[in-house]
Amino acid sequence: MFAGVDHVGIGVAEMESALEFFSGRLGFSEVLFDWTGELPGLEELTRASRTRARVVMLASRWATPIGPGRIRLVQTLSGDGTPPLPEGMGWGELGISEVCVHARGVELVHKELVESLGCVELMEPQSIVCTPFEVSCDLSYVADPGGGKIEVLEWTGLWRSLPGEARLEGVNHVAFGVRDMQATREFYGRLGFSHLVLESDGFFEPMRPWYPRQMPRQHMILVLPGQGAGIEPVRLAELTDCAGEWGHLGPMDFAIGVSNLERAVAELRSWGVVFHSDPVTVDVGSGEWRYAYFADPDGLYVCLSEGRY
Ligand SMILES: [Fe+2]
Repeated sequence: MFAGVDHVGIGVAEMESALEFFSGRLGFSEVLFDWTGELPGLEELTRASRTRARVVMLASRWATPIGPGRIRLVQTLSGDGTPPLPEGMGWGELGISEVCVHARGVELVHKELVESLGCVELMEPQSIVCTPFEVSCDLSYVADPGGGKIEVLEWTGLWRSLPGEARLEGVNHVAFGVRDMQATREFYGRLGFSHLVLESDGFFEPMRPWYPRQMPRQHMILVLPGQGAGIEPVRLAELTDCAGEWGHLGPMDFAIGVSNLERAVAELRSWGVVFHSDPVTVDVGSGEWRYAYFADPDGLYVCLSEGRY
């Protein structure tokens, strides 16, 4: 019933330059829809009676089974426009911490992003072996135009990349901070996130410069579903709230893909999950985008999404 993370929502201040970045530099060049209007069903999340936005759904033409996810850019046009990146964000505070894009050849891809395409480097390439299964990976980080974190990752120990040149693929996972790791595990386990890939509890030293305070201990897991992108919940030893306002700059929400929204909503409601609205439908021109936001265990911005576009 659930098809993993379909896409990650990213707030942008100005759509044209954001498109140049995500489409031109990161390779999410397939525009599934480009729509401007009033988004229904957000009143409880935004505490505003109306939210007008330009929304662009992008897919990577190089998406693979381990980098399948898409990106939804959102420029808020009502109120004061796109809210700022939450203050005090290091990594793993309550809220969305990063979007991770899978790559073939992290070293080369990162060099191209930083040296030729002018991306801001947040972490130089690292090769690590993840506990507890000794799965190797290469990773690096760059910033999106709003200062949000983009991880570039190759699961070298899980997956032999499909043949071809070094390249960015689609989204592999979204990272977010939680209060209770066990509750998160159980909740997202029921949503089909079943394959634990890593679990660690400690300090990932290359992230230390990101924290505007003393680095907290990080307990994180990474869980991949059978299809779609995965999740990387993080529990910091000292928790702060950086969820920010819906639509804020950088990665700010994510969507679980479903093929029958009504059935999926009914299933979650039967578990006692509270929805912020009934399913809504947006006519995006080429077809319909349907969604319903719900309260996950930490009240993060998460929706079920059914796309016909
Ligand atoms: Fe990550």
